[in-house]
Parts: sequence; C-alpha cells; structure tokens
Amino acid sequence: MAASGVVAVGAEGPQITCSLVCAVLAAVIGSLQYGYNTGVINAPEEIMKRFFNETWEERTGAPMSQNLLTSLWSLSVAIFSVGGMIGSLSVGLFVNRFGRRNSMLLVNILAIAGGILMAFSKMAKAMEVLIVGRFIIGLFCGLCTGFVPMYISEVSPTALRGAFGTLNQLGVVVGILVAQVFGLDVIMGTAALWPLLLGFTIIPAVLQSAALPFCPESPRFLLINKMEEEKAKAVLQKLRGTPDVSSDIQEMKDESTKMSQEKKVTIPELFRSPSYRQAILIAIMLQLSQQLSGINAVFYYSTGIFREAGVQKPVYATIGAGVVNTVFTVVSLFLVERAGRRTLHLVGLGGMAVCAAVMTIALVLQNIVSWMSYISIIAILAFVALFEIGPGPIPWFIVSELFSQGPRPAAVAVAGCSNWTSNFLVAMLFPYAAQYCGNYVFIIFIVFLVIFFIFTFFKVPETKGRTFDDISSGFERRAGDGVATATVGKGPMVEMTSIQPVKDVAADI
Ligand SMILES: *[C@@H]1O[C@H](CO)[C@@H](O)[C@H](O)[C@H]1NC(C)=O
Ligand SMILES: *[C@@H]1O[C@H](CO)[C@@H](O)[C@H](O)[C@H]1NC(C)=O
Repeated sequence: MAASGVVAVGAEGPQITCSLVCAVLAAVIGSLQYGYNTGVINAPEEIMKRFFNETWEERTGAPMSQNLLTSLWSLSVAIFSVGGMIGSLSVGLFVNRFGRRNSMLLVNILAIAGGILMAFSKMAKAMEVLIVGRFIIGLFCGLCTGFVPMYISEVSPTALRGAFGTLNQLGVVVGILVAQVFGLDVIMGTAALWPLLLGFTIIPAVLQSAALPFCPESPRFLLINKMEEEKAKAVLQKLRGTPDVSSDIQEMKDESTKMSQEKKVTIPELFRSPSYRQAILIAIMLQLSQQLSGINAVFYYSTGIFREAGVQKPVYATIGAGVVNTVFTVVSLFLVERAGRRTLHLVGLGGMAVCAAVMTIALVLQNIVSWMSYISIIAILAFVALFEIGPGPIPWFIVSELFSQGPRPAAVAVAGCSNWTSNFLVAMLFPYAAQYCGNYVFIIFIVFLVIFFIFTFFKVPETKGRTFDDISSGFERRAGDGVATATVGKGPMVEMTSIQPVKDVAADI
C-alpha cells in the first residue's frame, strides 16, 4: 500500500498509476471507519446494556431502571452524531491549514483515542468513558466525511473523479457490513469481546497513519492554497504517470478563477434572498427525508427490531440488511446516472412507506401467524434497498445541482448540519418511541415518508441535465413545470455528485 511509483497501468484514457491507487485506497480507510462506527453499536446492544445495568448495580447496589437504561443507551448511540456534526463543521479549519493529507493523518489521533476509551470502558467499569469515546469517534467520522471525498476528488484525474468518488460511498456501506459481521456472537459480539469490537477501529487508524505519509498531498491544495506550483507539478507527474501535466494545472487554475468570480453567498443570505429560499428549503427537506425515513433506526437498532419480531438469529437478519445495503448502493450508482433524481426519490420514499406498512402489519400479526416474522424481514430488506435507490443518494445530488458555485458551500453546510441533527434526533428518540409504541413504532416513519413524498411530488423539480439558470427560473414559474431533457452529458454530471460540494466548502471557508 505504501509503495508509490510511476508504473502506468492503463494504456488508453487517463492512466491509473500505482501512486493514484495507493492514495485513493489509503483515503478510503476513512470511509470504512465512518461505516464501521455507524454499524458497530447495533449487534452488541443487549450485552452492552447488560454491562450498563451490572455496572450501575455494582456502584449503587440497585439495578438500573428501564428508563435510565434506555436514556443512557440512546445517548451512547446518538452522541456519535453530535461529534459528527461538530466534526463536519470543522473540516474547513483543517484542510486549508494543514493540507488534505496531513489533516487525514492528524485526525487519526482522535480515532485512536476514541477507540482506546471505548475498549477500556468495560475494564474501567464506566459507561461514561464509553460515551466520551463514542463522541470522539463521532468527531473523527464527521471530519472524515469531509476529508475523504475532497482528497479523492483532488488527486483523481477529471475523467475518473466520478468513479473514484463512488468508492467513498462504497467504503461506508462496506464498513457497516464489516461491523455487523464482526458483531456476530461467534466473532466479537460477546460479553467478553465487545470492547475489542468497539476498539477495533484503532487498527484501520494505525494502518492509515502508516500509509498516508507515503501518499502525495493534494495537488490542488499545493497549487491553489499554497501557491507552490513546482511541488504541485511534481505530485501530479507522479499521480498521472506522465511528465506533461500542464492541462491539469491549467484546469485547476481555471476552476479557481471561476470560483473567485462568482460572489460567495453566506448562510443567512441563503434564507433571506427570495431566489435561494425555495432551493434551500428543498435541500433541508430532502436531508430530513433521508434521516426521518427511519433508515438509521434500522442501522442502529435492527438487531433489536428483529429480536422483537421473534427472529431466531436476529444478527443474521441484520447482516442480510448490510448485504442488501451494499448491493443496492452499487445498483444506485448506475441508476442515478440514468434516471431522474425526482423520480428515484419518489419511488424510494413511496416504496419505503409501503415496506414500513407491511412490516408493521407483520409485527402485529406475528403472534397469530408464525411465518409473519419472515414477512417482516423481507419488508426490512426491501426498505433498505429502496433507501439506497432514492433517499440515500438523491439529496446530495440535488443539493449540488440546485446551487451554483457561489451559494453551494453555504448550502452544503446547511444540508450537512440538518443531516447530522436529524440523525441525532432519530438515534436518541427511536428507543423511547419503540418503548411506547411497541410494534407500531414504524407508523411514525410512515407518516414522515408520506409527508416527504407529497412534498417531493409538489415542490421538488427534476434537476437532472438542467442548468442552474433553468432550475431557478423554474422556481419562479413554480416548481415542477417544464422539465428539460438532458443537455449536460454524463461526464460533468458525475463531477457534480457529492464529491464536488465538499471540496468547495473547504476551499472557501
Ligand atoms: C438489571 O439487572 C437485574 C438483575 O441483576 C434485572 O433484574 C433487571 O431487570 C435489569 N434491568 C434492566 C432495566 O434490564
Ligand atoms: C448523512 O447521513 C447519511 C445517513 O446517515 C450518511 O450516509 C451521509 O454520509 C451523511 N452525510 C454527511 C455529510 O454526514
């Protein structure tokens, strides 16, 4: 992984050099970390709750009340998103000061510190230590979700940017899956080994710290932020495997000029100016629709849900959800390039609402009809698949397609903040909702899904292949009319995915 050279692999098109592949792979470890820490808390829920209860009993002499246990457990799960929110808002503080690569290197300290705290919380007999560890890991993951796509897009040649950018998304879902497999009781999901399961995050952190020093700094950072053209050239020559990198240099310079020409828009301006207000409302609502669809209730708590559903080996059903998630992330990469964003989002939301309804009926009937537990598993798997088709990827596409360069960084920051905030609320409140509503808990998400479906149907315009001017004039004529057909080719569209905005945010902060 650490080797870097100018071994050109590809013959035609952009060359895939060893240096490029190594840099991308080293960075993707960060995405794996985010996925891993999102999924890791799911399988060992019961045994960790028992640890909370026992620790409490040792300290106070009395067992923990059900309410306190639910609160502390929700907090341990949800504090991750608080860290994530702070981390994602701090990305700009790091990347322009230390550079992209060194920022990634630096924050591994957080991963190691968080991992150690979580791993030793059992020995220390302190759930507070675990909660602090989860917070620090969340901070790390919030930073990673900013660094990784930015670094990958900046080292990749334009033609490969979209393809490599998807590795980030794939890294996240694979991380979730790995966490679920490791959480099996035959691997690390036991009362004795769960500290290792949580502390495992240290190993990729160490690996990444060992690999990154051999990876190049982002040429864009060297050229635009540091004005070190010679260094940028040297790095590019290594990454591209060719001595002539003038076109890359020129492209970066042009892009930077273009960005400085368009007036930057601040966050308050987004809400004040009538020309942005509708677009930012849509961006926020779509992020909310992603989180309030109930997907994280599934990722954080599916083992518990399946157990309630009377599934014999709930952990395997959870792993099934992870596999479906990974497969459909790949499927959606192809779909998103071809189908309209609005259509996919509507299909995803509508389908998820139907699945949630089927699941609710199955949960309610399972005591009467024994095979209903299979129906609820199928419904939950379909729920995950539909999420990855619509509400998973689409909000990011639409945000970057609704806003041009000027307002985009502010819009992405607002969208990211609503993402983590609603993520926190779901993680925190779902266990209470489950406690009070029992088998009917998913009705809450059905209501949200229907509301978001209606909102998308009436308010969200199709953005695929349309220019910013076209979209914003569409808002004036009221959203929904005049859907233009593709005028933008496949290439530029790929570039405008989630990779692009994150880069802009940091470059402009
Ligand atoms: C805590 O453990 C005790 C046994 O030590 C048990 O009776 C009690 O139900 C547990 N409390 C919760 C909330 O699970
Ligand atoms: C928003 O939330 C989703 C699902 O939890 C996650 O996959 C995505 O990476 C988040 N985005 C950011 C910027 O944190």
